[in-house]
Amino acid sequence: MNSSLQLDQIPFYQPQGDEAVLFEHAFQHQLPVLLKGPTGCGKTRFVRHMAAKLGLPLYTVACHDDLTAADLVGRHLLQEGDTVWNDGPLTRAVRNGGICYLDEVVEARKDTTVVLHPLSDDRRELPIERTGEILKAPDNFMLVVSYNPGYQNVFKGMKPSTRQRFVAMRFNFPNPQLEQDIITRESGVTPLLSQQLVEVAQALRRLQDHDLEESVSTRLLVYCGSLLQTGLPWQVACRAAIAEPLSDDEDTVAALMDVITAIMDG
Ligand SMILES: Nc1ncnc2c1ncn2[C@@H]1O[C@H](COP(=O)(O)OP(=O)(O)O)[C@@H](O)[C@H]1O
Ligand SMILES: [Mg+2]
Repeated sequence: MNSSLQLDQIPFYQPQGDEAVLFEHAFQHQLPVLLKGPTGCGKTRFVRHMAAKLGLPLYTVACHDDLTAADLVGRHLLQEGDTVWNDGPLTRAVRNGGICYLDEVVEARKDTTVVLHPLSDDRRELPIERTGEILKAPDNFMLVVSYNPGYQNVFKGMKPSTRQRFVAMRFNFPNPQLEQDIITRESGVTPLLSQQLVEVAQALRRLQDHDLEESVSTRLLVYCGSLLQTGLPWQVACRAAIAEPLSDDEDTVAALMDVITAIMDG
């Protein structure tokens, strides 16, 4: 759940624009940041990259629909007959400084907004109800949240009153040249094969009529590149890393494979 990164290991991140500069300014002004964009387009990689670049420890929490405020803040646990207070990841980040990254924040239970609100405005405070403490965030604490606006349903959208507390950055799939570079770099596959994978992605992302919840991500293209790089035939790699992850419907998978075949076989 947590990962600290050393300064000499800055994870590779291919910028799409001036997002790194904006992020640094936000950090400098102690503003919380919201990253929105489809799954697998580089949001998490960007945060890991920026944390390492700024020399900040990174506390990542993958939010889900059972995640409560106590999961973030902490709770009393029974240890050898005693109840001992245990900081959650958000509290650890506030105490020690660093970036707390809440991935897919809209999935979390509603009670989490109660702890996020005073932290995400100029109070920069974390009230710990159970212990009566009110922690003041240090200068090097930064709150970063992400969500996928395309995936949200009516009940799971981010409330405007919460959204308006963040500097918001929109992410999308990289343009073809950048995406090709990312696939080549991440998977070690030849530039020619990366180019074909990007063509596949372009074709699949244009498909409107299939009831796909999400289209093919850069992440899946990197997976596919990795499978190709170690010698799997494209039919096997593309089915396993692209078509099957995108749909459970057999007819849809077959239709996706037709589009893929037209490009890979060409
Ligand atoms: N701009 C980028 N630079 C480097 N790698 C990228 C980039 N975008 C996507 N990737 C690749 O795609 C994978 C998934 O990206 P990730 O950051 O986990 O997506 P998200 O958090 O948006 O779902 C990464 O592990 C990386 O291999
Ligand atoms: Mg992510």
